[in-house]
Amino acid sequence: MIFDSLWTNLQIESMDGSKKIKNDSIGVKNGKLSWIGKKNDLSKLKLKSSNKIVDGKNKLVTPGLIDCHTHLLFSGNRANEFEMRQKGATYEEISKKGGGIMSTVRATRNATEEELYKLGKHRLEQFLSEGVTTVEIKSGYGLDFESEIKLLKVATRLQKDLSIRIQRTFLGAHVCPQKSEYKSKDEYIDFLCNTLLPEVKKQKLADAVDGFCEKIAFNTAQIEKLFKKAKELGFPVKLHAEQLSNQNGVSIAAKFNAISVDHLEHISEDSIKKMKKSRTTAVLLPGAYYFLKEKQKPPVDLFRKHKVPIAIATDFNPGTSPINSLLTICNMAQVLFGLTTQESLRAVTKNAALALGKDKEIGTLEAGKNADFVIWDVESISEISYGINLNPKKTIVINGRVVYDTLGI
Ligand code: NIG
Ligand code: FE
Repeated sequence: MIFDSLWTNLQIESMDGSKKIKNDSIGVKNGKLSWIGKKNDLSKLKLKSSNKIVDGKNKLVTPGLIDCHTHLLFSGNRANEFEMRQKGATYEEISKKGGGIMSTVRATRNATEEELYKLGKHRLEQFLSEGVTTVEIKSGYGLDFESEIKLLKVATRLQKDLSIRIQRTFLGAHVCPQKSEYKSKDEYIDFLCNTLLPEVKKQKLADAVDGFCEKIAFNTAQIEKLFKKAKELGFPVKLHAEQLSNQNGVSIAAKFNAISVDHLEHISEDSIKKMKKSRTTAVLLPGAYYFLKEKQKPPVDLFRKHKVPIAIATDFNPGTSPINSLLTICNMAQVLFGLTTQESLRAVTKNAALALGKDKEIGTLEAGKNADFVIWDVESISEISYGINLNPKKTIVINGRVVYDTLGI
């Protein structure tokens, strides 16, 4: 076999559990990582090297980072609500008065597809510059037929046009729109199940279905109805659960083998045991915890005890986590939630891939997976996340192609 490119002289953090070995090499063929090992072993394996050989100068390489939970497509901002919260109002109070998610819904409904596309592209470029090679994008700021389809179409266009990988999640069940639009939350859930979700499926506009289980959003019976329909249509499901209170959303999610449950500050140990059985990944979102000045931390020790994989993500959105930096989130997960450096890197690679149901394709550096990796200008992995906005120089490869390079390798 001859590779399309051979990357040598690297310190590899494969995140697959194996120890890093000095002077390692990566062979890339057809956009896939086709071989990983010592360059000296190439002749033994009767592998020819390739036309293109890159000297990694003994730099550190990791899998491309994955942001597995964002609400990246929205218009406007909520700086005014930040001011209100600084004066003592709570997130729930603002939401009950028609602010919160609904205020972003109004701005997003008024934005054109083109405006949202440009906003999305710019934000994705910012993510890429930190070594993020896959981003999940949720809908959920449209909340009517036309606007939800508009958001998912924009996400699909971005997926086709940009080299960064995009996973699209349908979050029609973010909150219930105004009473003038639907008489009740039940009626809105029926509209999602009978009309909107089948259309999303028909037009192939989403890869998964999400919901928000909370007093200000939907109860477990409503989420159960949605998930039943989603599964019938063949969608994997995930859930925003136990963020502000314990609604037992995780039990419903586990019943439907959700790929992830996200937030989880108020989760019980019983629910964690259910997650273990249903192989559901815990996605922790320290940005929202920080920005809402929450007091209760997610029970990291219990996830460790029950061996539930922990992922972390930005939750990038204008209301509770206006933070478009996954490296800052890694830092927060370490400082605020006590994750180790290894845990936080695993949380944005291997475990984030699990949270997206994409662990066969991305998340670790193993033969057969997509050739998505980052060569960092650092000596050790702790340098990647120890600072805020230090953003080390790097070379980013997606599908075997260099898509970003400030390292000049
Ligand atoms: O993940 N929890 C629900 N959704 C977002 C908040 C979105 C907003 O306030 O606009 C979250 O934190
Ligand atoms: Fe969220």
